[in-house]
Amino acid sequence: MFATLLVASSSLPLLAAAQSAASVAYTPVTGACPSGFTLVRQAGAPGNQTIGAEEAAYISGRKSTVIPNAWKTYLANIQATNASLPSYVASILGGDNSADYPNLGIACSGGGWRASMFGAGVLNFLDGRNSTSVALGTGGLLQAAQYLSGLSGGANLVGSLAQANFPLMEVLAFGTNSTDPTNAWGGWQTPIIQQDPYTNMTQNDEYVQQLIEEIAGKYHAGFAVSYNDVTARDNGRHFINGTTASNFFDDTLVHGAGYTWSGVANLTSFETYSQPFPILVATLLSPNGNFSTLIPGGGLIIPQSNPIIELNVYEMGSYDPTLAAFTPMKYLGTTNESVCVTNLDQTGTVIGASGDWNTIYNTSVWEGSCPGQLHCIPSCHGIERHSPQPDIVLDSAVFPNAFNGPSMQGQFIDAEESIIMMSDGGSNGEAVPIQPLLVKARGLDTIFAVDSNQDWTNAYWSAGGSLVNTQNRINTLFPTAYSFPPVPTNTSEFIAQNLSTRPTFFGCDSSTEAPLIIYLANGGPPRNGEAPLLNQAPNSVSYPELQAILDQTYDVASQGYPADASAASDPEWPACLACAIVDRARNRTGTARSGVCATCMTRYCWDGSTVGLETTTTGGAAALRVGGGWGMAGMAIASLFTLAVRYF
Ligand SMILES: *[C@@H]1O[C@H](CO)[C@@H](O)[C@H](O)[C@H]1NC(C)=O
Ligand SMILES: *[C@@H]1O[C@H](CO)[C@@H](O)[C@H](O)[C@H]1NC(C)=O
Ligand SMILES: *[C@@H]1O[C@H](CO)[C@@H](O)[C@H](O)[C@H]1NC(C)=O
Ligand SMILES: *[C@@H]1O[C@H](CO)[C@@H](O)[C@H](O)[C@H]1NC(C)=O
Ligand SMILES: *[C@@H]1O[C@H](CO)[C@@H](O)[C@H](O)[C@H]1NC(C)=O
Ligand SMILES: *[C@@H]1O[C@H](CO)[C@@H](O)[C@H](O)[C@H]1NC(C)=O
Ligand SMILES: *[C@@H]1O[C@H](CO)[C@@H](O)[C@H](O)[C@H]1NC(C)=O
Ligand SMILES: *[C@@H]1O[C@H](CO)[C@@H](O)[C@H](O)[C@H]1NC(C)=O
Ligand SMILES: *[C@@H]1O[C@H](CO)[C@@H](O)[C@H](O)[C@H]1NC(C)=O
Ligand SMILES: *[C@@H]1O[C@H](CO)[C@@H](O)[C@H](O)[C@H]1NC(C)=O
Ligand SMILES: *[C@@H]1O[C@H](CO)[C@@H](O)[C@H](O)[C@H]1NC(C)=O
Ligand SMILES: *[C@@H]1O[C@H](CO)[C@@H](O)[C@H](O)[C@H]1NC(C)=O
Repeated sequence: MFATLLVASSSLPLLAAAQSAASVAYTPVTGACPSGFTLVRQAGAPGNQTIGAEEAAYISGRKSTVIPNAWKTYLANIQATNASLPSYVASILGGDNSADYPNLGIACSGGGWRASMFGAGVLNFLDGRNSTSVALGTGGLLQAAQYLSGLSGGANLVGSLAQANFPLMEVLAFGTNSTDPTNAWGGWQTPIIQQDPYTNMTQNDEYVQQLIEEIAGKYHAGFAVSYNDVTARDNGRHFINGTTASNFFDDTLVHGAGYTWSGVANLTSFETYSQPFPILVATLLSPNGNFSTLIPGGGLIIPQSNPIIELNVYEMGSYDPTLAAFTPMKYLGTTNESVCVTNLDQTGTVIGASGDWNTIYNTSVWEGSCPGQLHCIPSCHGIERHSPQPDIVLDSAVFPNAFNGPSMQGQFIDAEESIIMMSDGGSNGEAVPIQPLLVKARGLDTIFAVDSNQDWTNAYWSAGGSLVNTQNRINTLFPTAYSFPPVPTNTSEFIAQNLSTRPTFFGCDSSTEAPLIIYLANGGPPRNGEAPLLNQAPNSVSYPELQAILDQTYDVASQGYPADASAASDPEWPACLACAIVDRARNRTGTARSGVCATCMTRYCWDGSTVGLETTTTGGAAALRVGGGWGMAGMAIASLFTLAVRYF
């Protein structure tokens, strides 16, 4: 029914009359630009980079009002465990010299629901509001972090967390009861399969028709729409305020439409600098890329030389030298400095861009040949006829191009395109969103990297493939823009040395300015002998399962790397984590590592050696494959195109 309406533009008034509240709220607004509006901010070359003024103000506010107390609180937590830490830990964290503090960022990988849940379990382990974590001596690190990045399933986590005003992880997963459920955070609704919520296929079709109706306002206002807009409306029901289990199917509600990513800056937790600065990561899908830098193998479609796109609440762009520019998030969709677009940066759209792996289907060429296949819904419904650009890939995320024009030519591969397209952040092989945390102007020296992507050589477990690919990208393409500590060159080495089944520190002895990386992966079953719950790609998760998964993740995060191989956990892990957290700051004060920090750091640090086990049939390239972000939709629509999903 809606298909006809969308295609036949002559029926516009009819459609307008039929528009739902969500469709109206999802429609971008066009008006005169505010005076002094700047469309593009040049971020500068490495060595001469600047971060955005609003971000700088936020970080400065957080550093002066939140972080000193956060470090003191974290120090008190670890000290209460009676760990015999060397005195420099207390001098650094308990002192008043902000130049001495560690500069911490946290990255949450892609990997579908698995990654959202694993990431939340790990953040819980670091959260100073969780009394278990406080008693363990790890709670408080989340509060001391400057940045929190998320990609795909990790973007659903970081995006929902930020917009819900930074609640406890248990509240994030399960929601909160409120007298006004149409605005309050209602939880992830994990038992409801994304985009495929019914067992009755006819009803699923009607549900998707509803999602399409909700993007009709945007379409008729003249904006290019794509599959990601459909995803965005489903995201609205899972990751944005206002949806509960009981109102999920009430189509009179907006279900997250009208909630913007830039609007997160207006939340109380943001105004008080209480959140780590959230950054979502996507990749640029471009017809103009250098495809000889594409990592070969299934699932990866974005060349490593394409800019990695970051979407923070103030700006969209990249610090990669191949873009090195940003446009304001609030005015996403704007392409000149006279007519400004707002309300296009919908939170569901932005987190959807980070998790859009459906681009692998390249459905722009499939029109008419894909009935019943959900990923090509836009082309089946004539949406491409509105596209101003013939080579647009309909299953990508599309945005009017702010970086179009002579001044960007030679700097940006898409400078002549009117639309830019984005794909899942993991589509280039890097599912851990570490690139924004390596930006030199941000000055981070310690990165807690959470990896629950599945590496293809390792079933649904992580095996370091993302770090392998990041190392490769930086060393071959961007050696001056970024510094990255040495990691193994392939996933076979990660597996042979058990680097993803226990926390591993990279960069302990780096002679570069690279940050120290604390790597915690979903690399294998928990040591306590419980049956593993996280080596799967779930498309729906009952609440008892969700609780069990969060609890098991907590066990995995807290088990550490025992000196005694038969032990279930390492009693020194929280102390050793504190040693790693302060290690770069220790170096700055010219103090040598000592005490428990000298011994346990030796155990947790990768020593740079290789084992070089012979592997079977996997070649070097195949070993580098990382299965993208495993966006939700893929699993959700499995029943509709089983064949494709079995392959991917
Ligand atoms: C540094 O970057 C700014 C833009 O942020 C630019 O105007 C300036 O020319 C650059 N300086 C050098 C030395 O590259
Ligand atoms: C730490 O030591 C104090 C003083 O001996 C003791 O009261 C407290 O219970 C100890 N805490 C832990 C977690 O062992
Ligand atoms: C909300 O309240 C209902 C009824 O009291 C209760 O069953 C449910 O567990 C509560 N949900 C949350 C997330 O607190
Ligand atoms: C979402 O709901 C929470 C309360 O559950 C509230 O604190 C927060 O401000 C809301 N977020 C938005 C974007 O309205
Ligand atoms: C599926 O849903 C449709 C539409 O609501 C309904 O007509 C049909 O009877 C349902 N089929 C089954 C098997 O329940
Ligand atoms: C934040 O709130 C102010 C005051 O209501 C409003 O003017 C501004 O547009 C809002 N900012 C965003 C990004 O929504
Ligand atoms: C494309 O990438 C390859 C491999 O890095 C490089 O050798 C080649 O020069 C690049 N081509 C262009 C046009 O930049
Ligand atoms: C600015 O962009 C709008 C579309 O958002 C367009 O209608 C208008 O013509 C453009 N103005 C100029 C001066 O290019
Ligand atoms: C997508 O389809 C277009 C049109 O046929 C084709 O030119 C392009 O190479 C395809 N892209 C990929 C990544 O397969
Ligand atoms: C600090 O790090 C540098 C570079 O890795 C190293 O040469 C130096 O010995 C370190 N200093 C201390 C006190 O650890
Ligand atoms: C703290 O984390 C544990 C482990 O997941 C969980 O069982 C507990 O409910 C959490 N406490 C709070 C207050 O969130
Ligand atoms: C992985 O790296 C090790 C050490 O460099 C090397 O010996 C081994 O052959 C590599 N394995 C594969 C599958 O590339």
